[in-house]
Amino acid sequence: MPRADIERMLALARLTASWCNTQPWELHVTGPAATRRLAEALGRAARAGVRSADLPWPAAYEGVYRERRREAGYGLYAAVGVARDDAEARARQAMLNFEFFGAPHTAIITSDRDLGTYGAVDCGAYVANLLLAAESLGIAAIAQAAIASVSGVVREQLALPESRVVVCAVSFGYADHDHPVNGFRTTRASQDETIHWVD
Ligand SMILES: Cc1cc2nc3c(=O)[nH]c(=O)nc-3n(C[C@H](O)[C@H](O)[C@H](O)COP(=O)(O)O)c2cc1C
Repeated sequence: MPRADIERMLALARLTASWCNTQPWELHVTGPAATRRLAEALGRAARAGVRSADLPWPAAYEGVYRERRREAGYGLYAAVGVARDDAEARARQAMLNFEFFGAPHTAIITSDRDLGTYGAVDCGAYVANLLLAAESLGIAAIAQAAIASVSGVVREQLALPESRVVVCAVSFGYADHDHPVNGFRTTRASQDETIHWVD
């Protein structure tokens, strides 16, 4: 992708609000060769079963979270022709995370360790704005917390200091509109399920 387009997208996300305006996010943005190098290292580690997350991993997906997660997962598998009971094919699909789904670029987003949960919240706001900025510029982007499951390898590859924690990646490029995965759309819960009006 032209560097100017990437910089335009980053310039929009830069305006994200954060607690005390700390702006705890830092990004390592890879070019195609570095993306491939990182993918090789992450894929190797993930296949070997390495798991080392900097941030606490979700403890469980219960109730509606389990249902929503399953709906999104099954929708995705159906789009790419993976049967629900084909565990091997599902695992192969999940492994594509470590190849950044073929994107030429990824932005590894880190936060400051001392800023804890709210540092991560600020990074989440940054991620949302980065996705919106990408969409507004015709760039296809996907947030990927999966890569944080091998934070140790990300840390090693990018020579991150101890003070930084790996939050997630946002991989981006131009969409392959002919790919079946891009025909799949997720749903959202109704407002009734998420908004509690207090009078
Ligand atoms: C913080 C964050 C982390 C995510 N991590 C992953 C991931 O590791 N792998 C993946 O395939 N999608 C990941 N996603 C994408 C979500 O699954 C996706 O946004 C959600 O299913 C809603 O679909 P939509 O973005 O197409 O509307 C992530 C999204 C967010 C916001």
